[in-house]
Amino acid sequence: MYNERYRPQFHFSPKENWMNDPNGLVYFKGEYHLFYQYHPDGTKWGPMHWGHAVSKDLIHWDHLPIALFPDELGTIFSGCAVVDYGNTSGLKDGDEDVMVAIFTQHEEGNQKQSIAYSHDRGRTWTKYHNNPVIANPGLKDIRDPKVFWHEDANKWIMSLACGNHIRFYGSSNLLEWEHMSSFGEGYGAHGGVWECPDLIEVPVKGSEEKKWVLIVSINPGAPNGGSGMQYFVGEFNGKSFLPDESPETTHWADYGRDFYAAVSWLDTPTQEQIWIGWMSNWQYANEVPTHPWRSAMSIPRVVTLMKTENGYNLVQTPVKEIEQLRTRKTIEEHDVITHKEKPLKLSGVGPLLEMDIEVKEAQADTWGIHVRHGESQTTIAFHLKKGQWSIDRTQSGEVDFSTEFPSKDIAPFEKEVNKVQFYLDTSSLEVFLNDGESVITELIFPSQEDVEMELFARNGEVAFDRVKVTNLKGIWEKEREL
Ligand code: FRU
Repeated sequence: MYNERYRPQFHFSPKENWMNDPNGLVYFKGEYHLFYQYHPDGTKWGPMHWGHAVSKDLIHWDHLPIALFPDELGTIFSGCAVVDYGNTSGLKDGDEDVMVAIFTQHEEGNQKQSIAYSHDRGRTWTKYHNNPVIANPGLKDIRDPKVFWHEDANKWIMSLACGNHIRFYGSSNLLEWEHMSSFGEGYGAHGGVWECPDLIEVPVKGSEEKKWVLIVSINPGAPNGGSGMQYFVGEFNGKSFLPDESPETTHWADYGRDFYAAVSWLDTPTQEQIWIGWMSNWQYANEVPTHPWRSAMSIPRVVTLMKTENGYNLVQTPVKEIEQLRTRKTIEEHDVITHKEKPLKLSGVGPLLEMDIEVKEAQADTWGIHVRHGESQTTIAFHLKKGQWSIDRTQSGEVDFSTEFPSKDIAPFEKEVNKVQFYLDTSSLEVFLNDGESVITELIFPSQEDVEMELFARNGEVAFDRVKVTNLKGIWEKEREL
């Protein structure tokens, strides 16, 4: 159990069958809820339900029964959940605060928004008798509601993806909604349909400042192809989103191919903004070589902003709870120098690991890491003269299940490469540059024999203060014992 080939060992995946977007992320009574787009009858996308899991630490998950099933209004697409502490909806019954899920119901050509409620901490759900709460206004694409309580406006705010723009709705009771404003036409990237919005207030590192960030997934149209995530930084006055930047500016959250539909948890105990994304891409999601499940979620990440000369940049770091997976099996090297004739080989590591690299001085044109190195490899490379970094997975192992999969994916970096941290699971790689200023997330399907890691440099040398590999534990041990 949970030890099939390519089964993620420290990322969430369903026991079996198809999963896509995270939904209904909310913290309530000691539990982080993770609902997700789920097709319980197959390993390909199909009639959508909401699967469900809960966690006390964002790392170990308990699978729960399916939360929402399709009904006569349609299948259950993406959406969110809130705890209605003030019982604004009047749906509370008994002592327990009422949880309300707000989601899209999909029938071909008719998407509308519905709600359901739970009196038992999300274990069982009742659909509202007067669904939908927002009927289709004549749009083909209108979906993925994300709702939060806005203190100053004293109302619930909903962001809704409408093809090429986001609409903001307001409500005092979660039942009746008023369309307040729209944002997005002519702004940012429009290579595909806009999906899964999220509007969050994010702290700026090293200051007391906070900015509003509007997150928008887009498919296709990502910088390296297929599904990707852009964001806009600005202000939200309780009614409208006002961007700081010009319509031409596009910011990308993750330059990898496999980070999509990420949204944030409501009501986190630390009040941090924490999000999780679906680690796949619609270009090949239905073909990835895993069985009997398909798809995993990313590591949950804390989101902050960093002020730069060009405005604000989203910064992502893995939640600190991941540190509990570290084992004492580590390899640590200090003051090492790597150049063309002298790569640094690290054997006997993995397959689950965290790698931390601190650069002292880099003269090479390019340096990098061969991950899961052997017959094949995935190459993380820093092209210092170009101000770019990349992940090449064309030789990463099993790649031929889709012509869209083998790729070399490129990201810019701000100034220099000081720190690299990455997390390697059995079938994914998440790389955080300079404490999360730039991130690349990629699926890989390496051969079991390829376990080495190698640091290399071309045209010059690189000196490292520290190179550390920490082997990690998996999260499914408890499930295996059951
Ligand atoms: C994003 C998405 C959403 C939709 C869901 C359907 O990946 O297309 O827009 O609600 O998946 O499963």
